[in-house]
Order: sequence, then structure tokens, then C-alpha cells
Amino acid sequence: MSFNTRPVILTGDRTTGPLHLGHYVGSLKNRVALQESHRQFLLLADTQALTDNAHDPGKVRSNVLEVALDYLAVGIDPAKTTICVQSGLPALAELTTLYMNFVTVARLERNPTIKDEIHARGFGRDIPAGFLCYPVSQAADITAFKATVVPVGEDQLPLIEQTNEIARRINRQIGRDVLPEACALIPEIGRLPGIDGTAKMSKSQGNAIPLSASPDLIRESVRRMYTDPNHLRVSDPGTVEGNVVFTYLDAFDADRSAVDALKAHYRRGGLADMAVKRRLEDILQALLEPIRARRAALAREPGYVLDVLRQGTSRARQATQATLDEIRHGLGLFTFEFDAVPRSAADGSPLYPSSRP
Ligand code: TRP
Repeated sequence: MSFNTRPVILTGDRTTGPLHLGHYVGSLKNRVALQESHRQFLLLADTQALTDNAHDPGKVRSNVLEVALDYLAVGIDPAKTTICVQSGLPALAELTTLYMNFVTVARLERNPTIKDEIHARGFGRDIPAGFLCYPVSQAADITAFKATVVPVGEDQLPLIEQTNEIARRINRQIGRDVLPEACALIPEIGRLPGIDGTAKMSKSQGNAIPLSASPDLIRESVRRMYTDPNHLRVSDPGTVEGNVVFTYLDAFDADRSAVDALKAHYRRGGLADMAVKRRLEDILQALLEPIRARRAALAREPGYVLDVLRQGTSRARQATQATLDEIRHGLGLFTFEFDAVPRSAADGSPLYPSSRP
């Protein structure tokens, strides 16, 4: 399949903090594999991050580079995947404005992801309008690239559904299928719990192991990991279900039969938590050591990373602008051709910047 006929993938991350092991099993690993067979775009979603971090734009900005470093460190290859910065793609903002007319406030308020997140962030009645509308901007992200595959966690499913609803409305209005529908690609493993055993690994919960974790932090995190609180003596039979150490072994240990044997031993009794934790620690140290080393090497070359982002964003500008042009044309918007307008005022100074270089 030639590069340009490959199915298009778009996915992204809010730039609110460095990525962690949950991101790794949930999507990064998939993305590294998918870049071989797909035309993949990765969006550093800084504009979306602002919808609940408007008070801290510095954090959002600095994490653009941190997340880019994480991408490159795990093996995203900028020659195969286009990495781009959302705020550098004005076509996305313009599409968002147009799409806003094809969705109701009631529909946004009913979106289960948004409902949960509004609750979790304690917005009460003071919901930033940008936050309520970020599903529309995410629909702009996905459709602007004409992505048909969107690898995301399960919590994002309602956003894909909402995207497809908007795409159908736009297509109906225009009278032909300008925008394709997108399919979510959900990781098999499901969501990685935090080291404290709560449902989600998340930096804000302090229960995450970042991809850039030092060997000491990895050791300490595994040591603190939630196991079976009733497994008091080594000889006691233990429970594997909900025991984070075993959940992580399921996610990271390639030797399935060894894990099965450990589980049986733990259930029978006679296997210490520390023994299982030592195995997990070895696996995580081995997984993260090369990632950390590559990340550190790249961090010493910020010029290279910035070049990757500049080139990726420039390529993404072309793709997204082409879709915007189609939508503008399809909706029959008034279109200027600046080149037809006098270029200079009476005194010879330019009136308008040229629309095309
Ligand atoms: N909402 C996603 C998240 O929080 C990030 C994101 C922004 C995204 N735009 C996207 C994901 C487009 C997939 C496609 O993780």
C-alpha cells in the first residue's frame, strides 16, 4: 500500500503532564506498531488542555515538549508519524466554530465523558464554555485529518460517537460524504490501575509511574503497590484479583506461563508479596531503562525536537487546511481571494498579507 492510500490515524494527548505507564499500555505501544501500516498523525492537544487549565498556560506549554519527548523516547518515528501541535493548526479552530452550529448544548451536556469530567473537576455550575465544547474541537481534530481510526481509551468512546454525529450532519448539509466516519481502537488490556489500586493511573492522583521515572522511583512505586490487604503472612493464601502487582504482571510480563504459575502459588499460599514485587520491578526497570536513556539524550537536543514539531505541524497544516477549504466550499461560505484585492494602499503600503506565499 502506498503511503498516501494507507488508512489515516489521528490520536493525541492533552499536554498537561509527562506520560506514564498507563499511556504506554493504553496507547503508545499501539501507536509505535501502527505507524508501520498507517498514515499516523499525533496531536499535542495544547488547546484542548487549556479548556481546563486556562489558569496555567505555562504548564500546558512546557508539557508540549515533555509529551513530544515521551513520544520520541518510546519509539514514535517522525519519519513515519507526523507529530503536530494543536494550537499551530488554525484550521482546527475554524472548523470548531463551524461545527459548533451542528451540535446542541443539551447534547454536549449529555455526553457521558463530559458529564463525568465536569463532576470530577468540581466545576459545579461554572463550566468553562471551552470545556463544554471540547468534544466539538475534538471532532474538528479527527475530521480535519479525515481519520478513520482513532486509538483511544474506553473513556473517549462518547467523543468518537459525537464526532461521527457531527460528521453526518455536515455531510447531510453539504449533500455528499466529505467527512468519513471514524472508528475507535480500544486497547485490549483495558485501563491500567494506579499503584494504589484505584481505577485509573493519573498524575493528578499521585499514583502514576511516569515513563521518565528514575530507577529509585520505580523501585519505590513497586514497593508501595497495593496487593491483597488480607495476605498478612507469607503462608496465607492470597487473592490475585484486584491485586495491582498481578495486574501489572499481566500487562508487562511476556512470560504468560510463569505469571500463571506465580498466581497459582500466591493463591495456594507460601509466596511473599516481596517476591512477586521483585519480579515486577525487574520487568519495569528493563522496560523503562532504554526509554529513559533515549528521553535524556533527546532532552539534550531541544533544537532537534523543535524541528520535528515544526515540520510535523507544517505538514499537518496542509492536511487540515485542505479539509477546511472543502467544508467552507461545501457550506457555501463567502470566500475571499485576497490576490484579487488591491495589494497596497494609496501610499504603496501593503493592505493585506498575501493569502498564499
Ligand atoms: N481527549 C484526548 C485525551 O484527553 C486527547 C485528544 C485531543 C484526542 N484530540 C484528540 C484524542 C483527537 C484522539 C483524537 O486523551
